[in-house]
Amino acid sequence: MSGNTFTPRNPVSPLDPDRLRREQFAWMNAGDTIYMNAASTGPSPQCSVDAQIDFVRRRAMPQTVGFDDQFGILDKCRTLISGMTNADVSEIALAINTGAGINLAAWGLPLGVGDEVVVSDGEFPANMYPWLAAAQSRGFTVHVVPLRNGVLDEDALVAALHRPGVRALSVSWAGFASGIVADLDRLSAECRKRDVFLVVDAIQALPALPLDLARTRIDVLACGGQKWLLSPWGTGFTYVRRDIFRMLTPQPVSWMGVRDSDDFRRLVDYDLTWRDNARRYEQVTLAYQDFAGMAASLELLRDLGIANVATHIHQSAQQLLQGAREKDIETVSRIERHAGIASVRPADAAVTGARLERAGIIHSVREGTIRLAPHCYTTADDIARTLDAL
Ligand SMILES: Cc1ncc(COP(=O)(O)O)c(C=O)c1O
Repeated sequence: MSGNTFTPRNPVSPLDPDRLRREQFAWMNAGDTIYMNAASTGPSPQCSVDAQIDFVRRRAMPQTVGFDDQFGILDKCRTLISGMTNADVSEIALAINTGAGINLAAWGLPLGVGDEVVVSDGEFPANMYPWLAAAQSRGFTVHVVPLRNGVLDEDALVAALHRPGVRALSVSWAGFASGIVADLDRLSAECRKRDVFLVVDAIQALPALPLDLARTRIDVLACGGQKWLLSPWGTGFTYVRRDIFRMLTPQPVSWMGVRDSDDFRRLVDYDLTWRDNARRYEQVTLAYQDFAGMAASLELLRDLGIANVATHIHQSAQQLLQGAREKDIETVSRIERHAGIASVRPADAAVTGARLERAGIIHSVREGTIRLAPHCYTTADDIARTLDAL
C-alpha cells in the first residue's frame, strides 16, 4: 500500500459518531442540519470552544496568563502535530494559515533567474498567487501544467519535472474542488531523483489520509488548521524538512526566530543566528487563544485515534461517492483514491445545490461540482439523507 493512498484497516469504523456528537458537537443532534462542509470550515468541538473561552477570559487579566501558559500552548500544538505527521517536532513551525507556508517556500527557497517552479492549473489560489508574485520579484518562472478532463494530470506534472531549470514542484495533496488525491510517494520519488524541492498544500487531506513525514520526503508542507483539523481560523502549521533549513531563508523575519530570543534580558544584544529548529520560520507573536483551541482539537483527534478518524472519514466519503454513482450522478473524486472530499457533478449543480440546502445539508459548490465533506461526527443517517437529497 502506498503511504498516501488509504485502505481502511478496519472494515467497520470503531468511532462512535453518536457519542462524539453528544459530547462535542451537540448542535448536530439538536436540529435538522447535516454538516457536510469540513472542506470549507471544520466545526469546533466543544473542548476547543471551552479552551478558547477559558484562555480569552484569563487574558482579560494578562497577569493571570504566564509565559509558561503562552509558550506551553504552542509547544503542545507542535508536539501534537509532530505526532500526527511523524515529523520531528523540531521541523514544525506554527503558522496562521496554509498560505504562510506556501509564501515561505516561494520567497525563501533558493530560486532565481533561470529557475522554474511547476504547479498545476486549477490549484487553490493560496498555492498559485504566492508563486506568481515571488516569480515577478525574484526572476524565476512558473510553469502551469494544464488540467486533464478538468482535474489534476499527475502524469503531466511528473513529465514537467524534466523541463530544464525546474527546481520546485508545488501541489495540493487533495484538490479543493475535485478532491483528487495526488500520489505524494510518487511525486516525492520523482522530485528526489531530479533534486527538485517538493512543496505540498495538505489542508484538504490531513488527517483524512495518513501522513508519515519520516518516510515520505517532502521539503515544505503547509496546512491550515481551520478545516479538517477542526481548529480555529488563524491556526495552522508549516513543516520544513530539517535538511533544507540551510537553504530556506526565513521570510518574513520574526524577532523570536533567532537563537537567543528566549532570554528577555538580552533582547538588544542583536545576533542574527537562527534557531536550530523550525521555529526560525514562526511569526511571533501568535494568537495564543486560537492555538489553545487548536491544541484541544488536536488532542481530541489524537484521543479518538488518527487512524480511526481517517477510516471514518474515508468510509463516509466512499459511501457518498458510491451512492452517487448508483444514482448515475458523475463522481469527480476518485472512488479508488480519495480523502474526505466527495465531489460529484449532477446534471445541474445549482438545482441540486438548492435542493440540498432545502434539506438542511450544508455543502459547497466549487467549480461546478457539489462538494460534500463528512468528518468524524458523520452518521449513517447523515449519509442516507444526503444521498436522498442528491
Ligand atoms: C487547497 C487549499 N489550500 C488553501 C486553502 C486556504 O488557504 P489559507 O489557509 O491560507 O486560508 C484552501 C481553502 O480555503 C484550500 O482548499
